[in-house]
Amino acid sequence: MITKILEPTKENILTAGRMLKDGKLVAFPTETVYGLGADAFNEDAVKRVYLAKGRPSDNPMIVHIDSVEMLNSLTVEVTADMKKLADAFWPGPITMVCNKVDRLPSVTTGGLGTVGVRMPGNSIARDLITAAGVPVAAPSANISGRPSPTKKEHVIHDLDGKVDCILTGDDSRVGIESTVIDMTGDIPVILRPGIIGRTEISNILNKEVIIDRGLVADDEIPKAPGMKYRHYAPKADMVIYRGDDHLKVNSRIMEEKKRLESEGKRVGVILFGEDEYKRAAHDFFARLRELDAEGVDMILAAGLSEEDDTGFAVMNRMLKSAGFNVEEV
Ligand code: TXA
Ligand code: MG
Repeated sequence: MITKILEPTKENILTAGRMLKDGKLVAFPTETVYGLGADAFNEDAVKRVYLAKGRPSDNPMIVHIDSVEMLNSLTVEVTADMKKLADAFWPGPITMVCNKVDRLPSVTTGGLGTVGVRMPGNSIARDLITAAGVPVAAPSANISGRPSPTKKEHVIHDLDGKVDCILTGDDSRVGIESTVIDMTGDIPVILRPGIIGRTEISNILNKEVIIDRGLVADDEIPKAPGMKYRHYAPKADMVIYRGDDHLKVNSRIMEEKKRLESEGKRVGVILFGEDEYKRAAHDFFARLRELDAEGVDMILAAGLSEEDDTGFAVMNRMLKSAGFNVEEV
């Protein structure tokens, strides 16, 4: 397949929107990570997204909207709490899981009776949805299992030749995927942490918010099915060094680097400054891809404090990348 790679001019956004409406697959920038979109109501198009990514079809997609009217075409009940979160955070990096309308194909939601909905903060993404005139189902625009794409080059690397169009744009501002929050019960449950954290959400709703850590037994169905697959995996083996003393962690990493290099191994290091949580979110996936391209054998990373909501969200990705390979320092 020949992939059209288009810069996000007004005209190109209209072209890409028409392609979506016609059942084609279009990758596009968002403020979190790039997405791979299809018309959420078009079963065949959605099935092709799973194929292009090599993604298991029980992993539901997030449906992207440009307006609250579009939300009404996906769910019949917009609760008071949903309205509060929409007012506070949309457009922006938070996805709300709510009960879906029957008309929305169950392939889009991985067979679930619920749908995750998000109004992206990136205006190219919103203009594209408006041009398509339909809600756009879009997982991250990477091959399944690989680090999420935060630069146009990442998307081209993974999906050129596999999708109809790639709309390019700037690097993603946030760098990690949206917060996913289940709004179907009385108590909202965070299924995937993101840059919009528990404290911030809890303050807006003025009630308790729970974090589901995805710690479920193998034979249970996790609430966010995406949680059960190996994720964000670099090609190299990866270890996280975790501890309260930043300096001690750093010197442990440098010591291990030296030792491995003396054995002839190529070693990559991921270190973010203490309290540089936003920057860590912004750079983490790109750094993994950079180290893959360098062909390192081993990645040594310094863990972040999980007491900070953003630190917690980045650690959630880091732990998965490392296959939960952690050394306490
Ligand atoms: O920031 C983002 O959310 C990006 C951009 C493109 O918007 N999208 C993204 O999509 O990260 P994806 O498919 O890579 O991750 C979607 C996550 C998965 O963990 C999935 O299981 C969960 O959201 N999810 C989606 N719909 C759900 C639902 N109805 N119930 C529970 N979890 C859901
Ligand atoms: Mg993903």
